[in-house]
Amino acid sequence: MQIIESISDMRQWSDRHWHGLRRIVLVPTMGFLHEGHLSLMRLARLRGDLVVASIFVNPAQFSPGEDFAGYPRDFERDRRLLEAEQVDVLFHPSEQQIFPAGAQTFVEVEKLSLPLCGAARPGHFRGVATVVVKLFSIVRPQVAIFGEKDYQQLQVIRRMVRDLSLAVEIVGHPIVREPDGLALSSRNAYLNAAERTAALCLSRALCIAERLVKRGEVKATVIIDRVRAELNNQPLATVDYVKVCDAEFLEDIDEVNEPTLLALAVRIGKARLIDNRMLKV
Ligand code: PAJ
Repeated sequence: MQIIESISDMRQWSDRHWHGLRRIVLVPTMGFLHEGHLSLMRLARLRGDLVVASIFVNPAQFSPGEDFAGYPRDFERDRRLLEAEQVDVLFHPSEQQIFPAGAQTFVEVEKLSLPLCGAARPGHFRGVATVVVKLFSIVRPQVAIFGEKDYQQLQVIRRMVRDLSLAVEIVGHPIVREPDGLALSSRNAYLNAAERTAALCLSRALCIAERLVKRGEVKATVIIDRVRAELNNQPLATVDYVKVCDAEFLEDIDEVNEPTLLALAVRIGKARLIDNRMLKV
């Protein structure tokens, strides 16, 4: 596996392989890799000839007071994990490379960035969209893989690609979970043992909602109330949002019809955890 740190070296590598007609697949990450990230690498391998993983903890997507400085990092471990997955290139640029002083151009996906996590984290999706478009322009992948765990992020990126006519195919990967149901996340590292147990309320609440819908419940208010009750039952959890919305535009809906997304964000200790499920009538 090659480690590339500069934009010019990354461009040269990419140029060479474009000329050789190799299909490049990019998996952007912020590192501290887990099995969820590694599943994305495996899907990337199936989707193309060459896999590029990027690791960049993107300051632009953290608000002041959020966990940018304390975000977990372990480059050596990540490098070994990616090597074992036979990733071809690890792109690991510095902050100065990606955001040189004086930058004043940003990408904003206006409406889709507002609800759900966008409401609690103003500027977050602008930071995500800007860094992702930069990674696309540097790496020039034909395909890029993103997890459905960050469902709103996936929709924001899909919209951006359409709106800017970018020549990259966006592929989503289902949420990867621990055997007990907790969605894998780098931020799970913030949880102590009691909080780790408490965090199971997210997946449990999603399962309860799924069962309600299977039994014929379609009213969003009923589903949301039941999910909130389950989350509020957990003293270590503070609900940020519970939303039932349409899966493309992420607008609130009154009744479940296809395709409908149930999305939640919950604070437990230092961690803000998100999870979601598609509800099917
Ligand atoms: P990060 O949180 O490191 O996640 C990188 C990718 O892994 C994202 O596409 C995310 O959705 C996916 N992922 C994380 N946990 C997952 C899980 N349990 N199952 C499936 N996929 C999972 O998301 C980011 O980084 C950043 O915002 C980034 C896109 C890199 C831009 O900075």
